[in-house]
Amino acid sequence: MEKVQGYIQENKQRFMDELFDLIRIPSISADSEYKADVLKTCEFLKEKLIAAGAENVEISPTKGHPILYGDKIIDPKLPTILVYGHYDVQPAVPLELWTTPPFEPTIRNERIYARGACDDKGQMYMHFKAFEAMMKTGTLPCNVKFMIEGEEEVGSPNLGPYCIANKAKLKADVCLISDTSMIANDVPSIDVGLRGLTYVEVEVTGPNRDLHSGVYGGAVANPINILAKMIASLHDENMHITIPGFYDGIVEQTAEERAEMAKAPFNEADYKKDLGVAELLGEKGYTTMERTGTRPTLDCNGIWGGYTGEGSKTVLPSKAFAKISMRLVPNQNSHHITELFSKHFKSIAPASVKVEVRPHHGGEPVLTPTDSIEFKAASMAIEKTFGKKPIPTRGGGSIPIVALFEKELGVKSVLMGFGLDIDALHSPNESYGVFNFYKGIETIPYYYENYTKLKSQ
Ligand code: BES
Ligand code: MN
Ligand code: MN
Repeated sequence: MEKVQGYIQENKQRFMDELFDLIRIPSISADSEYKADVLKTCEFLKEKLIAAGAENVEISPTKGHPILYGDKIIDPKLPTILVYGHYDVQPAVPLELWTTPPFEPTIRNERIYARGACDDKGQMYMHFKAFEAMMKTGTLPCNVKFMIEGEEEVGSPNLGPYCIANKAKLKADVCLISDTSMIANDVPSIDVGLRGLTYVEVEVTGPNRDLHSGVYGGAVANPINILAKMIASLHDENMHITIPGFYDGIVEQTAEERAEMAKAPFNEADYKKDLGVAELLGEKGYTTMERTGTRPTLDCNGIWGGYTGEGSKTVLPSKAFAKISMRLVPNQNSHHITELFSKHFKSIAPASVKVEVRPHHGGEPVLTPTDSIEFKAASMAIEKTFGKKPIPTRGGGSIPIVALFEKELGVKSVLMGFGLDIDALHSPNESYGVFNFYKGIETIPYYYENYTKLKSQ
């Protein structure tokens, strides 16, 4: 281990320089204007994976963005770790809110500011560098396969089919992912659950054309007014979701589980201050941690229609739109919930409008065991480098492929994430701690070592 850690220390600056080069390519998967940049990012990573010592490195095109694969099999009898990550990033808008441009990484206060600095370029690239360090020092203890995709931020629509078509190639004992967060650098934690997701777009149509709001106003349904009311009705006064059947099948946490969760440090005043809100709002009867980790939610992500340009235009619009997401928990199913939503949303629409619901993408919730050697290897690795045993936590975000891996490849994942809540994922001024980037690289070889040992016992 000394050799690997020595190599990491000696190459620290180059690792950071390479991460900066990676971040500079704007791989926004949602926006087709960036298609060439997404491919360029994949090609950049291909070269780095080869340089680090991987074999069978290849880029697989998909209907969307390509998938990068590479491996190093040192002995088929040894365990195999499948590393998953994503090289695509969220759009950077609104650009004017960034202190420095999103694709010009800048270090301020020991943090790397850029889109993708943490999610997931910074975290994914730690695995490339840890692998390089093990390869160059001849200390790789087991087999490794890399599968890095470019469509996570748009729901991984082509990764499922890729996994099904490449089952033998992707065969592994565990999937190792760094794409989640910890409580704090002095309170390390590991997510043992992720929420699922369903994402829909709704369209409400009133009159067959935009109308003069004076000539027709008062006589014809305004689809924006109607849509706003429909969305508002999806929560009751206790912030429970009103869709019939929405909560069916959800397993409530036991009193012990809730007590265990409440042990994790949480400072409500700091939380509110960080977000600039005077009061928190959420489902009655649950703590903030429970609301974000263990409870399903419904949020309007965008709403538009009518006139939004400069000045004013007196118009009664023909159409109104919204994008709505629901975060799901075990045992909700994204397809079923999409159906329940669709049925309910249409049923609450007055006869004066027509409603269409278009599903975008979804993903299933997951819970990972904490009594497995897969988890233990991560817990021990973090304890070694952070000096404290990590607390198991539930992550509120979604990584749709985790449930799919389990279903299609029969492989469980370990979510060994090194981000923090302050990283501002998906927001302007996303950042990643320099400390976290290096700590991640240092921790990963311990995971490999621990897992190989535990697995062969
Ligand atoms: N890395 C995040 C997920 C995440 C972040 C999980 C923090 C736990 C803690 C991932 O890139 C992400 O943003 N996923 C999307 C899912 C998707 C289908 C667009 C999400 O959660 O919104
Ligand atoms: Mn991510
Ligand atoms: Mn993300």
